[in-house]
Amino acid sequence: MNEPLRFVTFEGPEGSGKSTQAARLAARLRERGADVTLTREPGGTELGRRIRSWLLHRDEPMGHEAEFLLYSADRAEHLRTVVRPALERGGFVISDRFVDSSYAYQGYGRGLDLDWLRAVSAGILGDVRPALTFLLDLPPEEGLARLAGRDRLEGESLAFHRRVRAGYLELARREPDRWVVLDALSDSETLERRIFEEVSRRWPA
Ligand SMILES: Nc1ncnc2c1ncn2[C@@H]1O[C@H](COP(=O)(O)OP(=O)(O)OP(=O)(O)O)[C@@H](O)[C@H]1O
Ligand SMILES: [Mg+2]
Repeated sequence: MNEPLRFVTFEGPEGSGKSTQAARLAARLRERGADVTLTREPGGTELGRRIRSWLLHRDEPMGHEAEFLLYSADRAEHLRTVVRPALERGGFVISDRFVDSSYAYQGYGRGLDLDWLRAVSAGILGDVRPALTFLLDLPPEEGLARLAGRDRLEGESLAFHRRVRAGYLELARREPDRWVVLDALSDSETLERRIFEEVSRRWPA
């Protein structure tokens, strides 16, 4: 595939503003006349929507490995049917969560072996990697307060969410060229401007 891929992802805890900012970035790029695919994980495909509903609304416990593999199954379908085709025609793909969510939640949060997660993910991703990832960093208390118990992961302990946050920051520290860490406590307009500036710098119109 031609480099660099116009693949932008949004990561961060629940309630950090990922969906808000992904939609705003998509709108601004479209105003510029760009071909933009706005999508999300899990749930960017029909299979994904089913998996998402299953993961978020199940009432029986599930092993962490199975949980990771379900997210991975969704990711494989999402890549095959949505992400790859759009990137291959040279368009922007903006994904609200992607593989880094698995590293943060199932790896740092649940304690699954990161090398195993990376090995499985490598087989799924092939040569597709996000070129730019925005981390909307937020203290877990703040994100949870914004949402007040909307779905299952949000019912996890504060300690779990703290591990996820620390995990995200560690991922960003390891790949500083790809990640842009933003203070998600900033107002939406400030974040939108900062994000669009960064995207415009990397891909001038
Ligand atoms: N910068 C901001 N400051 C204050 N509130 C915000 C900000 N951005 C979004 N919100 C509000 O916080 C809530 C969560 O925002 P949003 O749905 O975009 O977050 P999210 O990261 O996509 O959440 P989830 O992980 O649940 O999908 C919404 O009510 C939204 O209006
Ligand atoms: Mg969202």
